[in-house]
Amino acid sequence: MGTLGSLALFFFLMWTRRLPGFFEMKLKKRLEDSLSAGELACLVGAYDMVGDMAIIIIPAELAAKEQLIAEAVLGSNKKIRVVAKRAGNYGGEFRTIPLQVLAGENRKETEVVESGVRLLVNPETVYYSVRSGNERRRLAALVQPGESVLVLFSGIAPFPLIIARYSEAKSVVGIEKNPEAHAYARENLRRNKKQKNIHLYLGDVREVVPALAATYDRVIMPLPAGGEEFLPCGLQAVRAGGVLHFYALQRPELFAASCEKIAAACAAVNRTVLSTAITRCGHCAPKTYRICIDARIS
Ligand SMILES: C[S@@+](CC[C@H](N)C(=O)[O-])C[C@H]1O[C@@H](n2cnc3c(N)ncnc32)[C@H](O)[C@@H]1O
Repeated sequence: MGTLGSLALFFFLMWTRRLPGFFEMKLKKRLEDSLSAGELACLVGAYDMVGDMAIIIIPAELAAKEQLIAEAVLGSNKKIRVVAKRAGNYGGEFRTIPLQVLAGENRKETEVVESGVRLLVNPETVYYSVRSGNERRRLAALVQPGESVLVLFSGIAPFPLIIARYSEAKSVVGIEKNPEAHAYARENLRRNKKQKNIHLYLGDVREVVPALAATYDRVIMPLPAGGEEFLPCGLQAVRAGGVLHFYALQRPELFAASCEKIAAACAAVNRTVLSTAITRCGHCAPKTYRICIDARIS
């Protein structure tokens, strides 16, 4: 490959964010005079960028150096205005994560632009993952003109907004239980004025779906941990011949078991799975994937 080819590949990888090692190397270089070789080996150089906020992981061995590391991250990329560390794990019903701001501006709210859609978010009080951007575009591309789409667990509304923008859906409905996420979703609707066919509801999907008493061409269930509990609710909302998008965290040898869960939930209400297609849309642990099963339901 010539110089031009190598440059093109480099920028392509940067653009697709497949080069985390680049910023990692830059960060290690910045810290090589301040950390010992052992400490450098423990450093987690990769971090999530959410808008202008870098969310870093500080291993216990480096707790005493967290301020130093955060300042180095801040200085490593001009786009970063806030550096916050994960102060715990994702958890609870609303799948949120505690954050502690270490460097830069003292705030936890930021605006992300995902595929041209503006999303205001506080990653500590609401769930939002920049890593699902490609999956949202995949689903938007499947939506046919005139379809009605229901997004259960809609969070700050990234799925509804991306689908409304990149498809000709007749309507997109979102349901979210976290009041703070719902408030951000409403604000995000306001920030993306052109999307007028979106309706957002605050509440538990198990209460809102029956209350709406409607069926949809497509029902999306982006709750990979524990989503099977809500399969009866999702099925209730899919029209005969419609598609259910069910998410799970699964090892490849158990992908079929996830499909079985949908089949069992269908059998319980005298329906059947007509077809399934599985997409790997993320990695969550060694050999464990975030998958989406696109299931057409009778
Ligand atoms: C994994 S997040 C997905 C959020 C959003 N769809 C996204 O991709 O950013 C799951 C969401 O489901 C919400 N949730 C959990 N249980 C719920 C329920 N019973 N009814 C409605 N929303 C619920 C959580 O608050 C959270 O926002």
